[in-house]
Amino acid sequence: MATIRLTSLRKAYEFRGQRVHAVDDVTLEAPEGKILTLLGPSGCGKTTTLRCVAGLERPDDGEIRFGDRVVFSRARGVFVPPEQRNIGMVFQSYAIWPHMTVFENVAYPLRVRRVPSDEVRRRVQAALELVGLGALADRPAPFLSGGQQQRVALARALVYEPEVLLLDEPLSNLDAKVREQVREELRVLQRQLRITTVYVTHDQIEALALSDVVAVMRDGKVLEVGTPRDLYERPRTRFVAQFLGTTNLLPGRLAGREGREAWVETPYGRLRARADGVELGPGEGVLASVRPEHVALGSSEQPDAWQGTVVSALFEGSATKYRVDVGGFQLLAYGEAGYGLGDRVAVRFDPQKVVLLRDQGA
Ligand SMILES: Nc1ncnc2c1ncn2[C@@H]1O[C@H](COP(=O)(O)OP(=O)(O)OP(=O)(O)O)[C@@H](O)[C@H]1O
Ligand SMILES: [Mg+2]
Repeated sequence: MATIRLTSLRKAYEFRGQRVHAVDDVTLEAPEGKILTLLGPSGCGKTTTLRCVAGLERPDDGEIRFGDRVVFSRARGVFVPPEQRNIGMVFQSYAIWPHMTVFENVAYPLRVRRVPSDEVRRRVQAALELVGLGALADRPAPFLSGGQQQRVALARALVYEPEVLLLDEPLSNLDAKVREQVREELRVLQRQLRITTVYVTHDQIEALALSDVVAVMRDGKVLEVGTPRDLYERPRTRFVAQFLGTTNLLPGRLAGREGREAWVETPYGRLRARADGVELGPGEGVLASVRPEHVALGSSEQPDAWQGTVVSALFEGSATKYRVDVGGFQLLAYGEAGYGLGDRVAVRFDPQKVVLLRDQGA
């Protein structure tokens, strides 16, 4: 097991005379035994980054290390080919072979490596047990559900005990329920094996649920890196606040600060927010980011509360999603059922859950 380090990685493609900077100066670390997730919208460079780590693309510049081992360095002229990098990989289209049984699919990487057949038998069976398919070894691959095929692909990636696991949207072909189940299994398995993993997804829920570290990418660059909780609770950019979950972004001006608190004047009223980490001065434009679950609705008039009108209420099972108009801004809030359209409500924010962002750029 090894920490994966990418330093100043670059990869551009030429396409009909246009240059696309698919990976644009990426510096990142997947800590030993952990899951690093690359999260971002379509075309932001996730797959290209992963293919560079695998050795399936040759970067234009930078360096990639697995522990102390340099697998790519432009400066030193090093490029270790994929088959010598000791990686297991699952692609978005998981490509298991339909003309083979489950057993033969998983055995394939070992046969290529000319492993003796009794050892193949033992290791394939162990890999299948690991992913819960021990009983299905002899089944032809087409006679499997999507979730089972996904597990075959995973077993095949794990069978030769790679040092590094690379997964590119491995759950995207599964329906919501199975996806959630395989996601949990994957997390348990990764913890058990402690294999350094780079996981690619554009699904923010998946990223939050699975990762030790998340890197949010846009236009080939890494915008922010952190634990799922850090990024969700303390985003530093508007893009990350909006991409990772849902949030209300209230425009305003910083009116002052004292200790752990700042206050903001917005066109809809005054708002208190957490002040730590805020590098803004009085009078500067800010965006106050408040997650819907941190907007508290009350039925009575309360001091310090905003007044609003319920303009939509959607019952979603465990909570009700409301839109509340507060003087022209439609706030999204989650709350208990009970309010109806047109109801007047008091709206409060927990200041420690209100994050201030610079009102410009990203
Ligand atoms: N072989 C290629 N030739 C030219 N351009 C490419 C090639 N592969 C990728 N690109 C471009 O590089 C950029 C990054 O692509 P990449 O596949 O890494 O994105 P991604 O984040 O994985 O997106 P998705 O979520 O859609 O899979 C895109 O603009 C894409 O069009
Ligand atoms: Mg991709």
